[in-house]
Order: sequence, then C-alpha cells, then structure tokens
Amino acid sequence: MSEQNLKAAAPSAKRSTFSGRLGFVMAAASSAVGLGNLWRFPYLAAQYGGGIFILVYIIIAVTFGFAIMTTEIAIGRKTKLSPIDAYKKADKRFGWLGWLAFAIPVIIMPYYSVIGGWVTKYAVDYGISLFNTEIVQNAAGDSYFTAFISEPLTPLIFFAVFFILSSVIVIFGVQKGIERASKILMPMLIILSMVLSVYVATLPGAGEGIKYYLLPDFSKFSLTTVCAAMGQIFYSMSLAMGIMITYGSYMKDDVSIVKSTNQIELFDSIIATMAGFMIIPIVYMFSGEEGLKSGGAGLMFISLPKIFAQMPMGSLIGLVFFILVFFAALTSSVSLMEAIVSMLIDRFKMKRLTACIGVLIFTLLMGIPSSLGNGLWADVKIIGMDFLTFFDFISNSVMMPILACITCILIGWVVGTKYVTDEVTKNGEKFGRRKIYEIMVKFIAPVILLIIFVFYTLSAFGVVRI
Ligand code: PHE
Repeated sequence: MSEQNLKAAAPSAKRSTFSGRLGFVMAAASSAVGLGNLWRFPYLAAQYGGGIFILVYIIIAVTFGFAIMTTEIAIGRKTKLSPIDAYKKADKRFGWLGWLAFAIPVIIMPYYSVIGGWVTKYAVDYGISLFNTEIVQNAAGDSYFTAFISEPLTPLIFFAVFFILSSVIVIFGVQKGIERASKILMPMLIILSMVLSVYVATLPGAGEGIKYYLLPDFSKFSLTTVCAAMGQIFYSMSLAMGIMITYGSYMKDDVSIVKSTNQIELFDSIIATMAGFMIIPIVYMFSGEEGLKSGGAGLMFISLPKIFAQMPMGSLIGLVFFILVFFAALTSSVSLMEAIVSMLIDRFKMKRLTACIGVLIFTLLMGIPSSLGNGLWADVKIIGMDFLTFFDFISNSVMMPILACITCILIGWVVGTKYVTDEVTKNGEKFGRRKIYEIMVKFIAPVILLIIFVFYTLSAFGVVRI
C-alpha cells in the first residue's frame, strides 16, 4: 500500500458516532425494517405455510442472519472505516470486495427510491382522500397503479421528493440526522403498526385470516420454504449492502455488539410478523386465498387499495398504512445513502455536504431509467427485464450473495473468526453463540449463500417460483 493509501485507510480521529446502544440499534433497525418486511414477508408467510414459515424464518434469523450481521458490524467497528477501506484493512488481497460493497448500494439506491416515490404518491393520495373520498374509489380501480407508473412525469416528481427528503436527513449527519430521524420514526412506525393490527383484528371475520396466517400448513412446507426464508432474512436485515459495516464503524467501542444484534433481529422480526397481522386477515377476508398470491408491488399498490375502498374508514386506514410504509422506506433509503456517502468521505476525503449533493444528483439521474422503464422505455429490456427489475436482480440475487459469501470466506478461512470474536468480546463481554457463530461463518453460511444465489437467479428466469 502506498503511503497515501495507508493514510486514506486510517480511521479519522473525529469520526462521527452514534450516541450509544439505543441510537445504534434504532438506526440499524430502521434500515432493516423496510419494504421487505411490509410487502414481502406477509406474502411469503401466506405462500409457504403460515406458522411453519414464521418458525423457519426465526430459526434462520438467529443463526444465519445473526452470524452475518455480527460479522459486518464487527468489521465496521474494528476498522472504523466504511466498506471500501474496511475490507482492504482486513486483508489487502480482499480490497476489491470493498468496491463490490460500494457498487451494491449505488445500484440499489436509485430504484429503491423510485419505489419510495410510489409510496409517497399513495400516502399523499390517501391524505387527500380524507377530504375527497372519490380518490379512494379511484385508487381501487384496476388500472390506477399501472396508469400512474407508466406516466412519464408524475412518478419522477414523487421519486425526487422522496429522495430529496432522504438526502436532507443524511446531510444532517450521523447523530443529528440519521439517529434523530430513526429515534422519531421507528417508535411511530411501531405504534402505527400496532394500531393497524389491532384494528384489523377487531373487524368481523378477521379470525379466519389470523388462523390462516398463524396455523402451520405442512403441506406447503418444502425446500423452497427454507430457501425463501433464507433469501428474505438476508435482504430484510440489510446484509451485504455495506450498510451494517458503515453503521458498525459509527458504533462506540463500549456498546455491546451481541445485545445490539439481538435487538435489531428482534425489531426486524416483530415488524415483519406484525405486517402479517395487518395485511393477511384483510386480504383473506376480502379476496380469499387467491388475493394473497400477488406478492410485492401488486399486493401493496393494487390489492390493498381495493380493500381500503370497501373497508369502514378506508381513507384513514389507507393513510395510516402508507405513512407507515413511507417511514419504513425512507429510513432504509437513508441507510443506503449513508453507506455511499461515508465511503466517499473516507476514500475521497469529500465533505459530507459535497458527497450528499453528488449522490443526490447521481441518484436522480440514475433513477430515471428505472422510473421510465414502466412507461416510455417499457420496450427497453436487459436480459428480458425492465430496468428496475434488472437492477433489483443484479444486486439482490447476484452481487449481494457473492459479497456475503466471500466475506464469510475471508473471516472464516483467511483472517480467522478470532478477527470478529475478539472485537465482540473486547469489553469482557460473553459471546453466548460463539460456537454457532464459528460454524456458521466457516461452513454453513457460505453454502446457504451459494444456495440463495442459485435459487434466486433461477427464480428470476422463471425456472423456480418463489
Ligand atoms: N432491509 C430492507 C427491507 O427489508 C431492505 C433495504 C434496506 C433495502 C436498505 C434498501 C436499503 O426492505
């Protein structure tokens, strides 16, 4: 390493930090809780046998999810560097992994914010619908969503609004921006989801849906259930996006990594499970088992609005729901942006404001193809996919499993698991799941990641169905 590079890779004396464990956990949990919890988990649970899926999910979360998250947070805190330099510091030969970790949020950020823009539009619509109920009926129309996303301008405007809001939070920095926003938005998100779940449970006929959600249906259990749960945890906990390394690098040395990881896992799983209580009973009530088959955007932007239009107090419930989704998406997008900004600050010695403005302009431009891919540019396909689907595929199904897999090899076999376990126990803390951790990182997680890679790639090409 040249002297200059070494200097660039040295932790800066005045690196920002989260104020303490609460600040760190809130920020990391607010990254983890996102669209994955709200639109994907309930759909997967409904699809893969209810209670049995939830059980498998929790088991994988506290073993596999915990091992990868602990690794990332420990690498970050040990090096006090964001991913590009952190990997290099761990082992010079693995420096290129840092660039992969840089590329992933750069690819995800624009399209995630395009979807964030759709959520913003729906939150605004339901806000207006309190005064003009016609909107709720319109939103329930078959072509409302497709007409909106295929329009050239409106989705771009909402995307810009959403992303500018994320940028404002990031510009304020780690404690004053991210930590403060998470400490306000996360409790609100929890309260809103509790209010909605309780309200849904009181609706006549909700019991059937809750039963459908919770009772295990073993006939739907197969290897696919396990693969689906593995992939979901990986995405839902914001792993392999450079985020947990970055946030770990802002963690104070006296904060417990074990306790923090446990709490983030808990938060993420509780919100995911609660999302099931909000969504499954109402979809089941109004459209039966069939209604639960449309996952993702279809469920959120087409099925649910139809139900809000038939429900008592549909405008208000729709508004609360989309505000909740908006908060979840906003804090995830903030964490993506912070990962990029922190790499620019560390590696290129940029000022926070300059880095934020650079990322803002870049993202606004890069989001254009993902936004127009549903309308004007619908004919442009990359390996048969529109822009948004392609960026999602290449990051989630290809780059992220590869990054996480090689990270496990780096820690498990090259620098040794002591690299992480020493960091975890350096305050004399007990590392209860140490053995599980070691076995996971060395043997099981790399195999799981390889399976995720193969399984999700095959599913993107329609060979298997998730
Ligand atoms: N963990 C997020 C979720 O569940 C995924 C995510 C995080 C995506 C951060 C982008 C950025 O939705």
